[in-house]
Amino acid sequence: MGLSLGLIGYPINHSLSPWIHHQFMEKLGLEGEYVLYETSSDQLKKTVYQLMNKQVDGFNITVPYKQDIIPLLDELHPDAEKIGAVNTVVKESGKWTGYNTDGQGYVRSVKTEFPELFTSKSKVLILGAGGAARGIYRALVQEPFSTIDIANRTLKKAESFIPLKEDHVSTDVLSFSEAEENLYKYDYIVQTTSVGMKPNINDKVLSLRKLKPKTVVSDIVYQPLMTTLLKDAIDRGGRIHQGHAMLLYQAQLAFEIWTNKRPPLDDTLIKLEERLR
Ligand code: ATR
Repeated sequence: MGLSLGLIGYPINHSLSPWIHHQFMEKLGLEGEYVLYETSSDQLKKTVYQLMNKQVDGFNITVPYKQDIIPLLDELHPDAEKIGAVNTVVKESGKWTGYNTDGQGYVRSVKTEFPELFTSKSKVLILGAGGAARGIYRALVQEPFSTIDIANRTLKKAESFIPLKEDHVSTDVLSFSEAEENLYKYDYIVQTTSVGMKPNINDKVLSLRKLKPKTVVSDIVYQPLMTTLLKDAIDRGGRIHQGHAMLLYQAQLAFEIWTNKRPPLDDTLIKLEERLR
């Protein structure tokens, strides 16, 4: 019998996850399916229990149910518990367990491309303090960085990240105008807000006027792949990291959790880029 995987969310009919996971299966020579279960909120419980009863190998859960899934699970990975959101579910020792691979997957994607960035000397700035930023912050504080600051429109939301911190990290919360003025301090900036996303592709969350050359500017927005912020970063001598990498690496990590096998990525990132163009 082949792998039985899937995704619960709404709306998900344009999801790239089936394509990504079928690529992984093909590369590992595994048979199986990754099915979209587009589910309205009043059907969530029923769909989740159906998948559990079917003894699927695992499933992903996406917007808007990453929090709502939690009470339906038996166990949570400590990071998923801290983040307060789950995107990957697997049965372990008889218990349906929730993981969050978004942040760890994102960090793996940056580390693969810019390994030299991962030292205590690199200063990091996160733009945004929503659900995606929370997972990314929790993953970044487990790396060697000693400074990881957060800029957000609503300061309170950024302040709520502090309990997720590790002792070796210091975190300041900034407004976007403070971040703009102090931008030259940072070696790595990650943009996690929805600003710049289609259809508002000309918007950008802050000015890169004071960007230090060679700073890595990463944008998790992947529609469009080349955001106005990233174009601006290139013009100012920055290095860029595009959002589709997070999409691919969070999937790779989920696949590893389900199968204990790491799918090779080879050309999948380039193929994904072509699909998103
Ligand atoms: P996600 O799960 O994608 O992170 P989210 O939890 O809704 O989505 O978070 C959206 C993020 O984008 C937040 O940081 C939000 O800022 P606030 O916390 O102040 O709401 C940010 N955001 C959305 N629209 C914005 C805008 N027009 N200007 C600045 N920040 C914006």
